[in-house]
Amino acid sequence: MDKQFDDLVAMALAARSKAYAPYSKFAVGAAVKCKSGAVFVGANIENRSFGLTICAERVAMGAAVAGGERDFVAIAVTSDSDEPIVPCGACRQFLAEFNPDLIIVGATVRGDRKIDSLSRLLPDPTRGILKHADPS
Ligand code: THU
Repeated sequence: MDKQFDDLVAMALAARSKAYAPYSKFAVGAAVKCKSGAVFVGANIENRSFGLTICAERVAMGAAVAGGERDFVAIAVTSDSDEPIVPCGACRQFLAEFNPDLIIVGATVRGDRKIDSLSRLLPDPTRGILKHADPS
């Protein structure tokens, strides 16, 4: 197994214990690695108005951006599922804002792992969207 992301997965697993998921009971932990080397973590935060739920990936990246980071290398996403999960469609678009080629490391609590890329999961994240207002 690729040892490169062991620390990132461990941090995502630790963050998973902070999940607020009383409705789905599906706790997710995420950890995003910045180019600077810093790591920010997140966990899913549910709401009784279900649509307001925030996924672990967005919590982690939101914390990183609020911490002054904008350059990201990889994100680990951890769950107690049969196979590693991948970010939902909304999270893919959110993550692509900062790095459309982000490495996605899915891992289960049992140790299964699958590495993917955001560019494969969400090709063309910017096509046609606000072309007149590209951030610089
Ligand atoms: N969830 C995440 O936090 N990340 C994912 O990649 C998939 C889904 C959360 C949202 C909700 O709280 C629960 O998992 C069930 O969908």
